[in-house]
Amino acid sequence: MTEAKVDRQLEIPEGGFWPAPQVPQPNIYPMEWRVETQKLAAIYQKSKVMAWNPADLPWDGLRAEDFTTEQRLGIMYWFAVLANFDASGPAVFARATIRAFEKHEEDPVRKCFFSITRDEMNHEECCQRAIAIMWPGGPMSWTPATDLERAAHNNIGWLYHNGGRYWNGYSKAVGKYSLPVLFTSFMMGEMAASTLFRGMASGARHPVFAEMFARIGRDESRHLQICMTILEKEWPGLTDDVRMTITRQLRAGFVFLSMILWEPPEGFWDLPPYFLNNHRVLMDHARQAGLGVLSYGEQAENWRNAIAKIRVIVQRWGIDFPAVPELDIDGVDVSADISADDIIPVF
Ligand SMILES: [Fe+2]
Ligand SMILES: [Fe+2]
Repeated sequence: MTEAKVDRQLEIPEGGFWPAPQVPQPNIYPMEWRVETQKLAAIYQKSKVMAWNPADLPWDGLRAEDFTTEQRLGIMYWFAVLANFDASGPAVFARATIRAFEKHEEDPVRKCFFSITRDEMNHEECCQRAIAIMWPGGPMSWTPATDLERAAHNNIGWLYHNGGRYWNGYSKAVGKYSLPVLFTSFMMGEMAASTLFRGMASGARHPVFAEMFARIGRDESRHLQICMTILEKEWPGLTDDVRMTITRQLRAGFVFLSMILWEPPEGFWDLPPYFLNNHRVLMDHARQAGLGVLSYGEQAENWRNAIAKIRVIVQRWGIDFPAVPELDIDGVDVSADISADDIIPVF
């Protein structure tokens, strides 16, 4: 490097430099890269090394004509149900990323949130691609011609209606709840997601689905690791008040996530009375198509195991676990005070 010659003199104002104006808060410019949690920084680096591209899955091997019409509809339906969760992922974590910047969270937290946003975009792309092959125009922009198709189209419309409700709740929750409350919900979503995809990866008969679910499952495990690392930092300082809110959030998480992990609990999801019956018919078609959808009993078992793990984790920090009578899990009964506003959609 050649040395530049500096001719210009420094200007020092009389009475010293003027202090720059205070930056109003919250503001997205932390202008620093503080690292408090090395482990999170390492996870972020790993997320880049583990990056994968949904476009590179062997899509050529997934041919609509290899399935019956009912099976294609069943597969599309399952991905539409998944998309009701995964399609919220990018926006949910993008919002959380902005929040982390506003709150001047340490740099690895911001970066990890960004990486989850990236991953969720990939997961959503998988739904998009699978649906485009199986049912062009799906999930909503097509005209059903048979009773089965009308049932699928109608159920998806109801799901979307519910998904829309949760977005409003989440938008409010991000500003309203403290980080531990938000993260507990995220943690539950990631536990659910990693459990779901691990189960499906082992059950899927088609290589595209098997590989897709294995990769998504790996991402979700990393998301879970991120949430756990952040929670271990946040949980020690909890007040009883926040603990109680977390107990409610865990119940809300169960109610929300059961739709994809198992079946929606009674009395909360805003669905027509025939929804569940037709949902089961459509899920059966997806199951028979070799998508890897577990049986009703296996799903319940899987979900119960995931919840048991969450229960052990939160009880370590003195947080009461909510009762989940649907899965024979006892605990504090908070079901009466769960509303749509409590749901923090995550996956
Ligand atoms: Fe995901
Ligand atoms: Fe996730």
